[in-house]
Amino acid sequence: MCGIVGYIGHRDAYPIIMKGLQRLEYRGYDSAGIVLYDGENTHLSKTKGKVDDLRKKSEATISINGKLGLGHTRWATHGVPNDINSHPHYSSSGDLVIIHNGIIENYESIKKALIARGYSFESDTDTEVLVNLIEEIKKKEGVKLGKAVQIALNQVVGAYAIAVFDKNKPDEIVVAKLGSPLAIGIGENEYFIASDASPFIEFTNNAVYLEDEEMAIIRIGKEIKLRKIKDDAIAYPNILELQMNLEEIEKGGYDHFMLKEIYEQPRAILDTYRGRLLADQGIVKMAGIDQNLEKFLNANRIIIVACGTSWHAGLVAEYIFEDLARIPVEVEYASEFRYRNPVITENDILIAISQSGETADTLAAIKLAKEKGAFVFGVCNVVGSSIARETHAGAYTHAGPEIGVASTKAFTTQITVLTLIALKLANEKGIFSESKYHEFLTELESIPAKVERTLQSNEIVEQISEIYKDSTNCLYLGRGYNFPVALEGALKLKEISYIHAEGYPAAEMKHGPIALIDEQMPVIVIATKKGHYEKVVSNIQEIKSRSGKIIAIVTEGDKTVKELADHVVEVPETSESLTPLLTTIPLQLLSYHIAVMRGCNVDQPRNLAKSVTVE
Ligand code: F6R
Repeated sequence: MCGIVGYIGHRDAYPIIMKGLQRLEYRGYDSAGIVLYDGENTHLSKTKGKVDDLRKKSEATISINGKLGLGHTRWATHGVPNDINSHPHYSSSGDLVIIHNGIIENYESIKKALIARGYSFESDTDTEVLVNLIEEIKKKEGVKLGKAVQIALNQVVGAYAIAVFDKNKPDEIVVAKLGSPLAIGIGENEYFIASDASPFIEFTNNAVYLEDEEMAIIRIGKEIKLRKIKDDAIAYPNILELQMNLEEIEKGGYDHFMLKEIYEQPRAILDTYRGRLLADQGIVKMAGIDQNLEKFLNANRIIIVACGTSWHAGLVAEYIFEDLARIPVEVEYASEFRYRNPVITENDILIAISQSGETADTLAAIKLAKEKGAFVFGVCNVVGSSIARETHAGAYTHAGPEIGVASTKAFTTQITVLTLIALKLANEKGIFSESKYHEFLTELESIPAKVERTLQSNEIVEQISEIYKDSTNCLYLGRGYNFPVALEGALKLKEISYIHAEGYPAAEMKHGPIALIDEQMPVIVIATKKGHYEKVVSNIQEIKSRSGKIIAIVTEGDKTVKELADHVVEVPETSESLTPLLTTIPLQLLSYHIAVMRGCNVDQPRNLAKSVTVE
């Protein structure tokens, strides 16, 4: 959480940092700040609110000149969102200035010790403690800034991506990373620092991603040298050539990133299986699986760990793996798994699913499984992310940047990758007949076109949204493969429209939730033709007889449910295990339209952040 941006070079830092902050706003958006060095002095501006508020404030109150600067957009951890707690933070002398993404867990004891030695603090943040610790070490030990940062970081417990400079030595920025991401963009006689590459992509394609416990001193005219924070060892930067382009991170004519990303799904799913699925040859090619095939075929079980929407994709995968490949699967919230002393053996495979590849709990679950000897496979979207690097092998989803905080195309592309893996393993195990296997591959190939067709229901969904936009509660029901879709639909609605919503397996309704049903309660039921259709129809009748309002997601041409439901949205027919890729689309659109109609900030819902790098 929190986005950090920095610049040192020959251009004006202000517009680069402001635009960068705007692109990183998905990471946190309760306050923002900037500091610039104009050749003589530093100028700081910070405010509660969005980057736009910061822009207004800084342009009205400070000099925005300078070729060196740092910026921050915050998701509060220590201290409420207000001007004072916003970053950057000065050290007590005013010489050092820092931005930080992460949490310093032992900040209280350090703060007490610093207070006892005469330091005072303006903010409630852990970050102000860190910058003062660095300053004290620098003065006491008579060392340079880089060394002082290194010594300080060896005393703190927690997670960080930091950038710090000394206004008396404004030719360098010191950066360091543990747990939170940090990329350095390398231009000609200029460097960019950011939580991801989006702030500098129009200036350079060359970037270095710091590994955990690495730091760098960035100086104009000098090559980047990396050091290990713990033992001072030199680390050699691996300079990557980035593939991202500007178009991918802009709205492209859509009102919101979320809508753009919903509409990108046919393309994103196609990109996910492009080069991997060769239906006419009956081949699924995935390097990460091919190289570890024996491990997968001999695995006792697969444990899937993830959070939020990615966890829902994991639940869909549980059905797919067990149904198609006959491999036992357990799906765990990473946050629970990491703390509950799970039984893991060397014959287990852990699959970690994460859009951002930075989720702290998922990363910790991976580390735990590795310690216990399990083979760990990552399914990530962000190339080069921490999870992608921490896992033994993996497969990228290739969805392209997902900027809307609510996950959409990440979900469907995660399911696509996991389906490819299950199909490959099922075929290797000889579970399918040749023709059944071929039929599956061909059906998967047809999904982008079917998603495209499903998107044509947008207008109907918008009309339904108008009717239910003022609801205070909502139930989502599904069975089998569509039970996780119900959970995902409910999550989408609550996170962006702030309507209370619950997802349930349809048959569980009788065990409690049915008590909630009255004429005020919209119930969204996924009732596609395959997958316990008759049973879901009975559940719909039970809702109907209690006057609940039914919005049903049905297979094209359905007649039975049409007669019972208040509204229907049709999706094309497909095989049962692929239905989640279609049924989830109208639910994404429903939450989107309701949120827009309620005047909510769709791309930046309150209290949330795209990348949860704290536990
Ligand atoms: C919901 C959403 C979150 C994320 C969760 C995991 O729309 O976006 O629930 O799915 O925070 O994030 P990743 O997939 O980046 O690990």
